[in-house]
Amino acid sequence: MKNIIEKIKKTRLATGEELLMLLKNTDGEIDEYLFSCAREVCRENYNGKVYLRGLIEFTNYCKNDCLYCGIRRSNKNAKRYRLGHEEILECCKNGYSLGFRTFVLQGGEDGFYSDDMICEIVSSIKKEYPDCAVTLSIGEKPRESYERYFNSGADRYLLRHETANKEHYSKLHPPEMSFDNRMRCLKDLKEIGFQVGAGLMVGSPFQTAENLVEDLLFLADFQPDMIGIGPFIPHGETPFAGFESGKVRDTLAMVALSRLLVPKALIPATTALGTIHPKGREMGLNAGANVVMPNLSPLGVRKLYDLYENKICTGEEAAECLACIKGRIASAGFEADMSRGDRCGF
Ligand code: 5AD
Ligand code: FES
Repeated sequence: MKNIIEKIKKTRLATGEELLMLLKNTDGEIDEYLFSCAREVCRENYNGKVYLRGLIEFTNYCKNDCLYCGIRRSNKNAKRYRLGHEEILECCKNGYSLGFRTFVLQGGEDGFYSDDMICEIVSSIKKEYPDCAVTLSIGEKPRESYERYFNSGADRYLLRHETANKEHYSKLHPPEMSFDNRMRCLKDLKEIGFQVGAGLMVGSPFQTAENLVEDLLFLADFQPDMIGIGPFIPHGETPFAGFESGKVRDTLAMVALSRLLVPKALIPATTALGTIHPKGREMGLNAGANVVMPNLSPLGVRKLYDLYENKICTGEEAAECLACIKGRIASAGFEADMSRGDRCGF
């Protein structure tokens, strides 16, 4: 199996059979080898740097009803909040003074924020902090909206594909959401010129190893600039409350294989991975991840952005999280980097 890993590392190509075999591997030594190859490829491209992004979760209102997500519209027990323009700028001010040069604005699909409002928020951040990158993560929109966001200065857009298998997609989402529209969005975002992030949950309900292979082949083909991979974690107020969390090992294998297939990708060691294992994010970095996204949202709303159970970092001020995460990055043998950290070669 090591020779297959070698080959994928050299050629950046893999067959479905090869990926399936690696995903199903249970030999810890082979896994270690896979992770070390992913680390090496990451180091060749990013020289041991781990980029920090300031995450602002600005609304937990959502018109969608994804079956896995704690802020789905059917969760009547969710306490809802939204941040105003000034509050968002306040988060950026705090983040900028801490050294952040990327702000990620993430939220549910909240119709309260018109395209005009999003554009105004983006352009005021870019005006105030022209040396910063702005990343949006606000879901599926018409192409025209994406074009407006881009023209107002947004640099990047995160929209996980969630699963590359259409049938599986329909088991995770209500009938009014479609796989085809998701793919349309990703294609539009790329054509418009964003640095685009795709990604998925590992161990989501009804997912098979073959589905994960499809995800990897999709990523290899689409070549996203960013790839977000975290374990599925159940949330008590969703239809998936009774399902198990994704496995640390499977998540790490997906991170490592994504690194080999998309060598220049920016791949976060996700908060979800840090939630299912106390050293999850460090393990993610060791398996080829190179981004961490500490939270800049106001402490008062942190706990309310409740996608899944037991989410970490909901009780810490941004400065505390930053210090904690810097320590973790250094202890894992990497160098924290607060610069914009665009995708290399972009
Ligand atoms: N467990 C893990 N990740 C989740 N997300 C949403 N709900 C969950 C959950 N229960 C992820 C989705 C989404 C991102 C913002 O958070 O992949 O795209
Ligand atoms: Fe948030 Fe450690 S990263 S407390």
